[in-house]
Amino acid sequence: MSTVVEVMEKTTGAMSSAELAGEQHSRATVGDFTVADARMTCRDVEVWYGPKKAIKGVSLDIGKNEVLSMIGPSGCGKSTFLRCLNRMNDTIDGCRVTGSILLDGQDIYDKSLDPVPLRARVGMVFQKPNPFPKSIYENVAYGPRIHGLTNNRAELDALVESSLRKAGLWEEVKDRLDQPGTGLSGGQQQRLCIARTIAVSPEVILMDEPCSALDPIATAIVEELIDELRSQYSIAIVTHSMQQAARVSQRTAYFHLGDLIEIGETNDIFTSPKHRLTEDYITGRFG
Ligand SMILES: Nc1ncnc2c1ncn2[C@@H]1O[C@H](COP(=O)(O)OP(=O)(O)OP(=O)(O)O)[C@@H](O)[C@H]1O
Ligand SMILES: [Mg+2]
Repeated sequence: MSTVVEVMEKTTGAMSSAELAGEQHSRATVGDFTVADARMTCRDVEVWYGPKKAIKGVSLDIGKNEVLSMIGPSGCGKSTFLRCLNRMNDTIDGCRVTGSILLDGQDIYDKSLDPVPLRARVGMVFQKPNPFPKSIYENVAYGPRIHGLTNNRAELDALVESSLRKAGLWEEVKDRLDQPGTGLSGGQQQRLCIARTIAVSPEVILMDEPCSALDPIATAIVEELIDELRSQYSIAIVTHSMQQAARVSQRTAYFHLGDLIEIGETNDIFTSPKHRLTEDYITGRFG
């Protein structure tokens, strides 16, 4: 029987087996990818878009009450990996995920598991603030309503207020809750989206470049918020800003061409990276 590499060599022709080996096989990760108090446990995760492997066997834990930042050059698979964590990749045609991802010990890819409540437990904040075309109040109340989290209007009001307070937005919007969420500034919209995520009591919050559309002041507010949220949630954040990773996260994971190259304490990754690729990236020689 031919090996996968041989078969692919025959079909692609142009690439040498060494190139294909680099393209298709995972590299060992430098650093300890486990934590003592894991909330999420990912092992040998591979993601395919049709025939193309975008994540090549990534294993890592996300701990309770930690912020894990994911960094790496454009196209290395950060968003793809993040989307695995709440099965957002399910919505992409031709995308296939293998390996195991557990949330509190439960396999999130188990066929009997409904991805809708999963996405409340593992919430997501996107690069571009995306409030619903509804009022500020309704943006936050929407999730609790569809998940049946409150029994009456007074409870819902209280949940909307506490979520907006946790997102650091309450004082700015309390007098205009009935106005459209889309009428807020970019930084306020992003905090509204964070309030919307928090309102359904997630265990994990995924953030994909949440500050890339914000100015430095709004960025500082959101970064402060991320640090506060850590006391209650586990957070995985993708960022292109190494300064941001250094400011907000306790651990950092460096991705490169679908591999998790190195993971460790944020301070160690930025001051004494062990892998040459990590060093090249953080010193600006690559990416
Ligand atoms: N829907 C898709 N269909 C096919 N290929 C995809 C799809 N989404 C991403 N890819 C490919 O998967 C690889 C990883 O992409 P991904 O968006 O995860 O990278 P990224 O690290 O988030 O990059 P960036 O920093 O630019 O956001 C890339 O080669 C990309 O072209
Ligand atoms: Mg991305």
